Amino acid sequence: MARIVIIGSGIAGLFAALRLADAGHAVTVITKQRPIDSSTNWAQGGIAAILDKTDGVGLESHIKDTLASGDGMCDEQVVRSVIEESGARIRDLLNIGVQFETDVDGEFHFVKEGGHSERRILHAKDATGKEIERALNDAASTHSNIILKPNTLAMDLIQTEHQNPSKGIAGVWCLNQENDTVFTEPADILMLATGGVGQLWSQTTNPPVATGDGLAMAYRAGAAVKDMAFIQFHPTALALKSDRPFLITEAMRGEGGVILDDEGLRNWQAESEVPPGPFSFTLNHSPLGSMATRDIVARAIDQRLKETGDKHVYLITSHLDQKHLQDHFPNIQNRLNRHNLKLGRDPLPVSPAAHYIVGGLAVDEVGRPHCRESGEVLPSLYAIGEVACTGMHGANRLASNSLLEAVVYAARAANHIIESTPQSNDSPLPDWRADGLENLTEHVSLTHDRESLCNTMSREVGIVRRFTRLHRASRRLQLLSKEVDFMWRKALPSRQIVELRNLILVGQLVTEDALNRTENRGLHYNKDLIEDEGL
Ligand code: FAD
Ligand code: SIN
Repeated sequence: MARIVIIGSGIAGLFAALRLADAGHAVTVITKQRPIDSSTNWAQGGIAAILDKTDGVGLESHIKDTLASGDGMCDEQVVRSVIEESGARIRDLLNIGVQFETDVDGEFHFVKEGGHSERRILHAKDATGKEIERALNDAASTHSNIILKPNTLAMDLIQTEHQNPSKGIAGVWCLNQENDTVFTEPADILMLATGGVGQLWSQTTNPPVATGDGLAMAYRAGAAVKDMAFIQFHPTALALKSDRPFLITEAMRGEGGVILDDEGLRNWQAESEVPPGPFSFTLNHSPLGSMATRDIVARAIDQRLKETGDKHVYLITSHLDQKHLQDHFPNIQNRLNRHNLKLGRDPLPVSPAAHYIVGGLAVDEVGRPHCRESGEVLPSLYAIGEVACTGMHGANRLASNSLLEAVVYAARAANHIIESTPQSNDSPLPDWRADGLENLTEHVSLTHDRESLCNTMSREVGIVRRFTRLHRASRRLQLLSKEVDFMWRKALPSRQIVELRNLILVGQLVTEDALNRTENRGLHYNKDLIEDEGL
């Protein structure tokens, strides 16, 4: 029987594993920390979907909003097909045991986020991802065809026939973090479901596991990447010195939350009994104000913070019903309790933080990455979820379309494997090159290099870019890459060096794509291009 290995236990990896396992395949799921540790587990707002495939108006409206958010760069065929498939995949999630919020009549309750013209987002209060991870993990951990390997770090893909990309992938070298040994995991089919890259920036909403490992491993194995410059910064991450940038869901704005700067807050407070909306500086950027798409709102905040020198703006909810907010957003209120802040009462200090990579491994309609050199699909490899770039999100992802895309492509990839009846290949695989490698005596230089990397990406490759700063970043990343490569060739692998090596490579790919862009679209905004146009 073919050996199927999935790297990653977020929504993409676990959903694919369950589908394959239900079809009788034996599946090994490798994951870096605990199985629940993933961006999926931290998702708040929800999953956008049109449940009834015959609801033409609903489908067209979701498609229209997705295309508008993508700023003319979505693949319309992909968008249409994913949204048409959304109802079927939601039913799969329900069958697996995911419980979405319902109202008193037992009907699903939908929320709205920036860029959505309708309420169409299914959710589980403000911790949708946690509920999805719970149900998927419950099902996977009890499935007799699934072996879960936690605390296992995939380091590099093993290729067949002299590391030739066109010959496909034959396995993966992994670090068992429980005993610090490297082992070879053979695979006839390998699926990358390793998620995003938020840890490249100092301020991120992403969990520590989001270090771009899958992207980097596949790139080293010859895979093509696409649209890497499109990095989504979420506009409203809690900005308190004593806490990491904890996400405040866009659904809060869907319920009426408004973004104000200091001046707007003062002006609004001086008036009595009027709503705060008209006082928002975001209206200078879009008539939708605080509910415009993320690229626009994050850029508006970034510009305002640069003008004022402030560290944050405010998310205002005190004009809304306190009880409703606390019922609806218990996870967020719980976090705010640490800081004695209350929804429906206090202005929440927020600023943008790196949130999602729209680009990634360029894949076909069933999640197969393409070879950089030949353009052909790479045999026996699949990439699903945030690690992949399907064309769904164009230049800017519409809120809550990520979980949807991940589950749709996980199903498609799994179905493709089931239908293609993969063969097993028992040829022996090379062991990890361990000879002559030593334990690093000091890890402090890796810590410094990682700080330097995050600082460079935050200062030079952030929301608003300039050619001079991108070039500066490129030079710094090249130096860091040489330095870490030198250590990599000498040192026994550790999680720290594996992640740093991957992050640097992904940082280089993001910067290179940003440097090559000649127009501003969606999430890529280079001020020099605007000035060239004389605006
Ligand atoms: P993940 O869920 O990130 O899973 C990746 C897995 O790969 C993890 O298990 C990780 O440990 C593992 N892994 C990574 N590298 C390795 C390695 N080298 N070896 C072994 N294992 C590895 N999207 C929405 O649609 N709606 C939302 O409401 C929403 N809210 C969000 C809120 C937050 C705070 C964040 C961070 C993201 C949110 N997103 C949301 C985006 C969405 O959660 C992610 O895009 C999606 O969950 C990605 O799923 P995934 O399965 O591709 O990756
Ligand atoms: C949020 O809840 O604001 C995040 C939603 C998303 O990233 O799609």
